[in-house]
Amino acid sequence: MPILLIHGPNLSQLGHRDPAVYGTATLAEVVDTVRAVLPDVADYDSEREGDLVQRLHAARTDGTTAVIVNPGALSHYSYALRDALEQLDVPKVEVHLSQVHARERFRHHSVVSAVCHVTITGAGLFGYRLAAEAAVHLLEDRSQAFQAVTPPD
Ligand code: DQA
Repeated sequence: MPILLIHGPNLSQLGHRDPAVYGTATLAEVVDTVRAVLPDVADYDSEREGDLVQRLHAARTDGTTAVIVNPGALSHYSYALRDALEQLDVPKVEVHLSQVHARERFRHHSVVSAVCHVTITGAGLFGYRLAAEAAVHLLEDRSQAFQAVTPPD
């Protein structure tokens, strides 16, 4: 039952990138944090929106049972990523390392949140453990998971 962990632009730079905001863990360490809860997690990252969209299309038929996604800055403006996530009929968990609501105004809104069942923001690396556990919880209680998604405006 593979769960897909997917990262968008600039998250490959974790460890070097603004450690006061994002912490010092590398992307590999982030993946290991999820793997500690979900040993079979499949991970994918790309700097390119289209690649992320295509990976989500593939997830529809490759047995993916849930998605954990940190889209990076695409969270704030990518309707393409949002639409790709919407098409996937599995539990979806959005995660951000930083507390986006305490940062620049453009980070306060995520266009993907409305098509994800859970959003975790500001818990740093620990947020990924929460995200993994949320994915397991949503898989165990699908009825609750699907009530949580509200139709977008
Ligand atoms: C981020 C927050 C985004 O605003 C930012 O563009 C990122 C990382 C986070 O994990 O805190 O790239 O998604």
